[in-house]
Amino acid sequence: MDKLNRLSPIGMFDSGVGGISVLREALTQLPCERFIFYGDTANAPYGTKAREEVLSLSRYIVEMLIKQDCKAIVIACNTATSAAAATLRSQYPDLPIIGMEPALKPAHQLHQDGIVLSLATPGTIAGEKYAHLYALYGQGVVSLPCPGLMEFAERGELTGEPLRAYLARLFAPYADRKVEAVVLGCTHYVFLKQAIAAFFPGVPLIDGNEGTVRQLRRRLEEVDLLSDTKPQSDTRLTLMSSGGEKAVETMRLLLQWKDNKNA
Ligand code: DGL
Repeated sequence: MDKLNRLSPIGMFDSGVGGISVLREALTQLPCERFIFYGDTANAPYGTKAREEVLSLSRYIVEMLIKQDCKAIVIACNTATSAAAATLRSQYPDLPIIGMEPALKPAHQLHQDGIVLSLATPGTIAGEKYAHLYALYGQGVVSLPCPGLMEFAERGELTGEPLRAYLARLFAPYADRKVEAVVLGCTHYVFLKQAIAAFFPGVPLIDGNEGTVRQLRRRLEEVDLLSDTKPQSDTRLTLMSSGGEKAVETMRLLLQWKDNKNA
Protein backbone atom coordinates (compact mmCIF):
# COMPACT_ATOMS: atom_id res chain seq x y z
CA MET A 1 0.00 0.00 0.00
CA ASP A 2 2.99 2.37 -0.44
CA LYS A 3 1.45 4.12 -3.43
CA LEU A 4 -1.35 5.61 -1.33
CA ASN A 5 -1.65 9.34 -1.43
CA ARG A 6 -4.31 12.01 -1.15
CA LEU A 7 -5.35 11.53 -4.77
CA SER A 8 -6.03 7.80 -4.34
CA PRO A 9 -9.71 6.85 -4.45
CA ILE A 10 -11.94 5.91 -1.53
CA GLY A 11 -13.43 2.43 -1.79
CA MET A 12 -17.03 1.98 -0.72
CA PHE A 13 -19.15 -1.16 -0.74
CA ASP A 14 -22.53 -2.57 0.16
CA SER A 15 -24.42 -5.81 -0.43
CA GLY A 16 -26.07 -4.02 -3.34
CA VAL A 17 -27.39 -0.62 -4.31
CA GLY A 18 -28.26 0.66 -0.80
CA GLY A 19 -24.79 2.07 -0.22
CA ILE A 20 -25.45 4.52 -3.05
CA SER A 21 -27.36 6.52 -0.39
CA VAL A 22 -24.05 6.90 1.49
CA LEU A 23 -22.15 7.61 -1.71
CA ARG A 24 -24.55 10.47 -2.56
CA GLU A 25 -23.77 12.07 0.79
CA ALA A 26 -20.03 11.55 0.30
CA LEU A 27 -20.08 13.06 -3.19
CA THR A 28 -21.72 16.17 -1.71
CA GLN A 29 -19.62 16.52 1.43
CA LEU A 30 -16.26 15.62 -0.15
CA PRO A 31 -16.06 17.30 -3.56
CA CYS A 32 -12.31 16.68 -3.92
CA GLU A 33 -12.45 12.91 -3.46
CA ARG A 34 -12.63 10.08 -6.00
CA PHE A 35 -14.72 7.00 -5.26
CA ILE A 36 -14.91 3.39 -6.35
CA PHE A 37 -18.26 1.92 -5.34
CA TYR A 38 -18.85 -1.83 -5.38
CA GLY A 39 -22.34 -3.30 -4.94
CA ASP A 40 -22.46 -7.04 -4.30
CA THR A 41 -25.89 -7.52 -5.83
CA ALA A 42 -25.15 -11.12 -6.92
CA ASN A 43 -24.73 -12.08 -3.25
CA ALA A 44 -27.47 -9.87 -1.79
CA PRO A 45 -29.09 -9.90 0.65
CA TYR A 46 -26.42 -10.00 3.36
CA GLY A 47 -28.94 -9.44 6.12
CA THR A 48 -30.26 -12.99 6.14
CA LYS A 49 -26.84 -14.68 5.78
CA ALA A 50 -24.64 -16.11 8.51
CA ARG A 51 -22.08 -13.72 9.99
CA GLU A 52 -19.14 -15.81 8.73
CA GLU A 53 -20.42 -15.67 5.18
CA VAL A 54 -20.87 -11.88 5.28
CA LEU A 55 -17.35 -11.58 6.71
CA SER A 56 -15.85 -13.61 3.90
CA LEU A 57 -17.78 -11.70 1.18
CA SER A 58 -16.70 -8.40 2.76
CA ARG A 59 -13.06 -9.49 3.00
CA TYR A 60 -13.04 -10.45 -0.67
CA ILE A 61 -14.37 -7.00 -1.66
CA VAL A 62 -11.94 -5.11 0.59
CA GLU A 63 -9.01 -7.04 -0.91
CA MET A 64 -10.23 -6.15 -4.38
CA LEU A 65 -10.54 -2.44 -3.42
CA ILE A 66 -7.05 -2.47 -1.88
CA LYS A 67 -5.68 -3.83 -5.16
CA GLN A 68 -7.17 -0.71 -6.77
CA ASP A 69 -5.11 1.47 -4.41
CA CYS A 70 -8.00 2.70 -2.29
CA LYS A 71 -6.73 4.91 0.53
CA ALA A 72 -9.73 4.22 2.79
CA ILE A 73 -12.74 1.90 2.85
CA VAL A 74 -16.31 2.81 3.73
CA ILE A 75 -18.52 -0.16 4.59
CA ALA A 76 -21.75 1.42 3.38
CA CYS A 77 -23.76 -1.38 4.95
CA ASN A 78 -24.84 -1.81 8.56
CA THR A 79 -24.96 -5.60 8.20
CA ALA A 80 -21.43 -5.94 6.81
CA THR A 81 -20.11 -3.50 9.42
CA SER A 82 -21.58 -5.61 12.17
CA ALA A 83 -20.18 -8.84 10.72
CA ALA A 84 -16.81 -7.70 9.42
CA ALA A 85 -15.54 -4.26 10.48
CA ALA A 86 -13.68 -5.32 13.63
CA THR A 87 -11.94 -8.26 11.91
CA LEU A 88 -11.00 -6.22 8.84
CA ARG A 89 -9.60 -3.38 10.99
CA SER A 90 -7.34 -5.79 12.82
CA GLN A 91 -6.28 -7.36 9.52
CA TYR A 92 -5.50 -3.95 7.93
CA PRO A 93 -4.48 -1.71 10.83
CA ASP A 94 -3.04 1.02 8.56
CA LEU A 95 -6.11 1.37 6.38
CA PRO A 96 -8.91 3.67 7.55
CA ILE A 97 -12.06 1.49 7.57
CA ILE A 98 -15.25 3.41 8.30
CA GLY A 99 -18.37 1.48 9.20
CA MET A 100 -22.02 2.21 9.98
CA GLU A 101 -24.51 1.46 12.69
CA PRO A 102 -28.24 2.12 13.07
CA ALA A 103 -28.70 5.68 14.33
CA LEU A 104 -30.08 4.77 17.77
CA LYS A 105 -27.96 7.44 19.43
CA PRO A 106 -29.53 10.47 17.67
CA ALA A 107 -32.97 8.85 17.89
CA HIS A 108 -32.49 8.46 21.64
CA GLN A 109 -32.43 12.25 21.95
CA LEU A 110 -35.96 12.40 20.50
CA HIS A 111 -37.34 9.77 22.83
CA GLN A 112 -39.77 10.92 25.53
CA ASP A 113 -42.73 8.77 26.51
CA GLY A 114 -43.44 7.05 23.17
CA ILE A 115 -41.49 4.55 21.10
CA VAL A 116 -38.71 4.63 18.52
CA LEU A 117 -38.95 2.07 15.71
CA SER A 118 -35.57 0.75 14.60
CA LEU A 119 -35.67 -0.93 11.19
CA ALA A 120 -32.69 -3.05 10.18
CA THR A 121 -31.80 -6.41 8.69
CA PRO A 122 -32.12 -9.59 10.79
CA GLY A 123 -28.29 -9.88 10.74
CA THR A 124 -27.76 -6.36 12.07
CA ILE A 125 -30.31 -6.76 14.85
CA ALA A 126 -28.94 -10.16 15.91
CA GLY A 127 -25.34 -8.88 16.00
CA GLU A 128 -23.21 -8.10 19.04
CA LYS A 129 -22.64 -4.55 17.86
CA TYR A 130 -26.36 -3.83 17.91
CA ALA A 131 -26.73 -5.39 21.38
CA HIS A 132 -24.06 -3.01 22.62
CA LEU A 133 -25.74 -0.01 21.00
CA TYR A 134 -29.13 -1.09 22.35
CA ALA A 135 -27.77 -1.37 25.87
CA LEU A 136 -26.71 2.29 25.64
CA TYR A 137 -29.54 3.88 23.64
CA GLY A 138 -32.31 1.28 23.50
CA GLN A 139 -34.74 2.93 25.88
CA GLY A 140 -38.16 2.96 24.19
CA VAL A 141 -36.71 1.34 21.06
CA VAL A 142 -38.65 -1.41 19.30
CA SER A 143 -36.28 -3.30 16.97
CA LEU A 144 -37.91 -4.50 13.76
CA PRO A 145 -35.95 -6.98 11.63
CA CYS A 146 -37.12 -6.52 8.04
CA PRO A 147 -36.30 -9.59 5.91
CA GLY A 148 -37.38 -8.93 2.33
CA LEU A 149 -37.44 -5.13 2.59
CA MET A 150 -34.06 -4.33 1.02
CA GLU A 151 -35.14 -6.23 -2.09
CA PHE A 152 -37.59 -3.44 -3.00
CA ALA A 153 -34.74 -0.92 -3.20
CA GLU A 154 -32.54 -3.46 -4.94
CA ARG A 155 -35.17 -3.75 -7.68
CA GLY A 156 -35.50 0.03 -7.84
CA GLU A 157 -39.10 -0.36 -6.61
CA LEU A 158 -39.34 2.67 -4.32
CA THR A 159 -43.13 3.03 -4.37
CA GLY A 160 -46.12 0.83 -5.23
CA GLU A 161 -48.66 -1.49 -3.67
CA PRO A 162 -46.44 -4.49 -2.77
CA LEU A 163 -44.10 -2.19 -0.82
CA ARG A 164 -47.01 -0.42 0.86
CA ALA A 165 -48.53 -3.78 1.84
CA TYR A 166 -45.19 -5.01 3.28
CA LEU A 167 -44.88 -1.86 5.37
CA ALA A 168 -48.53 -1.95 6.47
CA ARG A 169 -47.98 -5.47 7.87
CA LEU A 170 -44.74 -4.41 9.55
CA PHE A 171 -46.20 -1.33 11.22
CA ALA A 172 -49.71 -2.63 12.06
CA PRO A 173 -48.85 -3.58 15.69
CA TYR A 174 -47.77 0.02 16.39
CA ALA A 175 -50.74 1.83 14.85
CA ASP A 176 -51.95 3.03 18.27
CA ARG A 177 -48.54 3.89 19.68
CA LYS A 178 -46.89 7.26 19.79
CA VAL A 179 -43.96 6.84 17.42
CA GLU A 180 -41.31 9.52 18.07
CA ALA A 181 -38.72 8.54 15.48
CA VAL A 182 -38.01 5.83 12.91
CA VAL A 183 -34.42 4.67 12.49
CA LEU A 184 -33.46 3.55 8.98
CA GLY A 185 -30.79 1.07 10.03
CA CYS A 186 -30.03 -0.30 6.58
CA THR A 187 -28.67 1.80 3.74
CA HIS A 188 -31.26 0.40 1.33
CA TYR A 189 -34.14 1.71 3.45
CA VAL A 190 -33.08 5.31 2.88
CA PHE A 191 -34.42 4.98 -0.68
CA LEU A 192 -37.77 3.77 0.72
CA LYS A 193 -38.14 6.88 2.86
CA GLN A 194 -41.20 8.32 1.13
CA ALA A 195 -43.10 5.03 1.42
CA ILE A 196 -42.18 4.67 5.11
CA ALA A 197 -42.94 8.34 5.90
CA ALA A 198 -46.50 7.87 4.62
CA PHE A 199 -47.20 5.79 7.75
CA PHE A 200 -45.72 8.38 10.13
CA PRO A 201 -46.62 11.92 9.11
CA GLY A 202 -44.36 14.47 10.79
CA VAL A 203 -42.16 11.83 12.47
CA PRO A 204 -38.40 12.14 11.84
CA LEU A 205 -36.78 9.31 9.87
CA ILE A 206 -33.15 9.04 10.89
CA ASP A 207 -30.30 7.43 8.99
CA GLY A 208 -26.58 7.30 9.69
CA ASN A 209 -25.32 8.57 6.34
CA GLU A 210 -24.28 12.11 7.26
CA GLY A 211 -22.50 10.95 10.39
CA THR A 212 -20.69 8.22 8.47
CA VAL A 213 -19.35 10.69 5.91
CA ARG A 214 -18.31 13.12 8.68
CA GLN A 215 -16.41 10.25 10.28
CA LEU A 216 -14.78 9.45 6.91
CA ARG A 217 -13.57 13.04 6.62
CA ARG A 218 -12.20 13.01 10.19
CA ARG A 219 -10.28 9.75 9.61
CA LEU A 220 -8.80 11.06 6.34
CA GLU A 221 -7.72 14.26 8.07
CA GLU A 222 -6.12 12.31 10.90
CA VAL A 223 -3.91 10.34 8.51
CA ASP A 224 -3.36 13.33 6.22
CA LEU A 225 -5.07 11.68 3.26
CA LEU A 226 -7.90 14.17 2.64
CA SER A 227 -7.65 15.45 -0.92
CA ASP A 228 -7.78 19.17 -1.64
CA THR A 229 -7.66 18.88 -5.42
CA LYS A 230 -10.86 18.54 -7.44
CA PRO A 231 -10.60 15.47 -9.69
CA GLN A 232 -11.56 15.59 -13.36
CA SER A 233 -15.26 14.77 -13.46
CA ASP A 234 -14.82 11.65 -15.62
CA THR A 235 -12.41 10.11 -13.08
CA ARG A 236 -14.46 10.96 -10.01
CA LEU A 237 -16.63 7.88 -9.73
CA THR A 238 -16.34 4.24 -10.75
CA LEU A 239 -19.41 2.07 -10.21
CA MET A 240 -18.94 -1.69 -10.05
CA SER A 241 -21.34 -4.51 -9.29
CA SER A 242 -21.33 -8.29 -9.10
CA GLY A 243 -24.87 -7.98 -10.49
CA GLY A 244 -23.81 -6.82 -13.95
CA GLU A 245 -24.94 -3.90 -16.09
CA LYS A 246 -28.56 -3.97 -14.86
CA ALA A 247 -27.49 -3.38 -11.26
CA VAL A 248 -25.10 -0.62 -12.35
CA GLU A 249 -28.01 1.01 -14.19
CA THR A 250 -30.10 0.92 -10.97
CA MET A 251 -27.18 2.55 -9.15
CA ARG A 252 -27.07 5.33 -11.74
CA LEU A 253 -30.82 5.90 -11.32
CA LEU A 254 -30.47 6.02 -7.53
CA LEU A 255 -27.67 8.57 -7.83
CA GLN A 256 -30.25 10.81 -9.56
CA TRP A 257 -33.02 10.04 -7.02
CA LYS A 258 -34.69 13.17 -5.64
CA ASP A 259 -34.40 13.01 -1.88
CA ASN A 260 -37.12 14.86 -0.10
CA LYS A 261 -35.24 15.38 3.17
CA ASN A 262 -38.49 16.21 4.96
CA ALA A 263 -40.31 13.15 3.69
N1 DGL B 1 -27.67 -2.36 2.91
C1 DGL B 1 -27.38 -3.27 3.94
C2 DGL B 1 -27.39 -2.66 5.34
O1 DGL B 1 -27.19 -1.50 5.47
C3 DGL B 1 -27.93 -4.63 3.96
C4 DGL B 1 -29.02 -5.13 3.10
C5 DGL B 1 -28.88 -6.62 2.95
O2 DGL B 1 -28.03 -7.03 2.16
O3 DGL B 1 -29.61 -7.38 3.61
O4 DGL B 1 -27.58 -3.30 6.33
